Amino acid sequence: MQDQLTRLDRIISDLLGRTALEKDVADVVRVATEAVGRLRALTGRDAWLVKPDQPALARIDPLRLAQVFDNLLRNAAKYSPESGAITLQIIPADGEVRIVVQDEGAGISSDEIERVFERGFRSPRLAERTQGEGLGLAVCRQIIEGQGGHITVVSAGIDRGSSFTVILPTVRIAIASSSEEATAT
Ligand SMILES: Nc1ncnc2c1ncn2[C@@H]1O[C@H](COP(=O)(O)OP(=O)(O)OP(=O)(O)O)[C@@H](O)[C@H]1O
Ligand SMILES: [Mg+2]
Repeated sequence: MQDQLTRLDRIISDLLGRTALEKDVADVVRVATEAVGRLRALTGRDAWLVKPDQPALARIDPLRLAQVFDNLLRNAAKYSPESGAITLQIIPADGEVRIVVQDEGAGISSDEIERVFERGFRSPRLAERTQGEGLGLAVCRQIIEGQGGHITVVSAGIDRGSSFTVILPTVRIAIASSSEEATAT
C-alpha cells in the first residue's frame, strides 16, 4: 500500500512538473513564426524573421509571448507605410533571449518616447489617421515585466522608424542521459 502511494505521488508530481514545463517555456522561433503568419493573414504585410542557429527558449507562457508579438507586429504595420520593411530578430545570449521588432515607419519623437508604454497614450500626430486604444504596449510591458523581463524602445526620430527590444530570461533544457528525462533549469 505504502509503495503504491509513493508511486502515485511520483506520477502526480511528474505530471505537474511536465505541465509547468510546457506552460512556462516558449520556443521563441516557433511563437514568432506563427505571429508573422497571423500578421500576413490579418494585414497582408510581411515581416522578415531573423532566426538564430541555436534554439531560443524563454521562460514565459507561449500564449502571453504570442500576445506581445501580435501587439508589436501590428503596431509596426499600422505605423509604417506598405513599402516599409518590418523585421523580427531573435538573438539568444548569455542567460537571456533578446527579441527586436523593427520598422521603417512614423518613428517616435524624443518627448513621446517615455510615454508610449503608458496606458491610454497615443501620439496626437498618429491618432488622427489610425485607430487604437493606446493599450497594446501597456499590456506588452505588463506581460514582459511580470515575467522578469524588460521591454524598451528606441527611435531615430519622426519618420525614421522604431525599434522595440524585449529581453526575457532563457531556459536551458538538460537531458539526463540515465533517465532520458528533460528538466528545465
Ligand atoms: N511602431 C511604432 N511606430 C511609431 N509609433 C508607435 C509604434 N508603436 C507604438 N507607437 C506609438 O505608441 C502609441 C501607443 O501604442 P499602443 O500599441 O499601446 O496603442 P495603439 O496602437 O494606439 O492602440 P492599441 O490599443 O490598438 O494597441 C501609439 O498610439 C503610437 O503613438
Ligand atoms: Mg497598438
